[in-house]
Order: sequence, then structure tokens, then C-alpha cells
Amino acid sequence: MKLAVFCSGRGSNLGALLDARDKGALPGAEFQVVVSDAKGAGALNAARERGVPALVVPRSAFHANQDGFERRLIEVLEPYGIELVILAGFQRVLGETFLKAYPQRVVNIHPALLPSFPGHMVWGNELEYGVKLAGATAHFVDPGVDTGPVIIQGAVPVLPGDDVEALSERILKVEHRIYPQAVAWLVSGRVELKGRTVAIKDLDPSPEETGASFIWPPLGK
Ligand code: GRF
Repeated sequence: MKLAVFCSGRGSNLGALLDARDKGALPGAEFQVVVSDAKGAGALNAARERGVPALVVPRSAFHANQDGFERRLIEVLEPYGIELVILAGFQRVLGETFLKAYPQRVVNIHPALLPSFPGHMVWGNELEYGVKLAGATAHFVDPGVDTGPVIIQGAVPVLPGDDVEALSERILKVEHRIYPQAVAWLVSGRVELKGRTVAIKDLDPSPEETGASFIWPPLGK
């Protein structure tokens, strides 16, 4: 499956995906191109160093013309025959124009347990709210902000004394585990989308896993 990855920043999720590829955990995944909306994105070098062409489509060049930006993105992907678009820290919302060109073929990683804490400033909002569990979600992209069908989620505790840096680092480690898994399932054709519900074909969880719960703070201590 031919993949494009869209980034805006440092590209650690891109790195985790390429690590998974190099370890043989993403059979059939062909990383064709990385696209950034920002010139200075660290993800651009990260991609090139690992043999993936990287391009910039500056959002700023399109001013209020969101449609023009999305049409340009479609045009840029055209020669690569892209079958799945992976948003990895892409700080732009994609609307109908782009999503119609890639129906059910755009996925995202979000650093919260959706539907809680969509959008920006997630970690500060979680700390302010006082949640005990945080985490990350890989999901399909629909025209809303972080509202598409959930593929996989992972939870971590919020610890006493956490600040935004500590919490975001803990969540990022989960992102790096669940996103390559989501992409592996997609590439191998194991993801079935029915309405809002995602089923993973041939998933065979052990009885221990189905009975597992993650409770924080721990009981009886
Ligand atoms: C991650 O926290 C991701 O969940 C969010 O943006 C951040 C990107 O980080 N969408 P990186 O560029 O992958 O390091």
C-alpha cells in the first residue's frame, strides 16, 4: 500500500512509523512521500535521512483559500498513487475537498482519549480538568475536528506533579506504540469500518487481555 505522511513539526510519530517499517512490522507499507505545510518542520529532514522524499506545501501561501490548499495537496500526491494518508502531527484541518479525494483513507493520531479533549492544548486542559487517565487515539479523519471513527486507543495515568512536558512525553510513548499498529492493520486490510465502528479482522485477544482494566490511582493502596 502506497502511503503519504503529513507532518508539521518534529516528526517523532513519522520516526516511529519508519522504525516499524525497518523492523519489518509494516509488511506491504511503501512510504512514498512526506508532506509538510511548514518549511522548518523537523519531519522533512527525518524523512529525507531515511530515504523518503519530502515536500513542502506552505499553508501560508493560500491565505484564506483552504480549498486551494487542499486542491494543491491532492495535486502533489497525484503522481505517487497514494492509497492512505497518515496525519502525524499535521496542524491543519482537512475539509471536504481533500477528504472526498481520499474517502476513508485518511487517519490521524491525537494525544487524548477521544472524544475527550479534541483540538489543541490537550495536555494543559487535561491537567486543569484533573483527569486521572490520559492517553492517545488513532482514528479515521472525517470533516470534524478529531471526531472520526476510533481505530485504537492507549491509556496512561496522570501522575501527581505532572506538568505539560511530563504528561505529553508519557502520552507520546503510547502514540509511538499504537500508531504503527493501526497502520499495520490498515496496510494488511484488517480494518473494517461500519458507520462509526471499526472492527479489526481476526483479532484474537487472550482472556487476560479482555478482562484487563487500567485503574488509576491503584485500588487498595
Ligand atoms: C503528537 O502529539 C500528535 O499526537 C499530535 O501532534 C504531535 C506531533 O508530534 N497530533 P510529532 O511531530 O509526531 O513528534
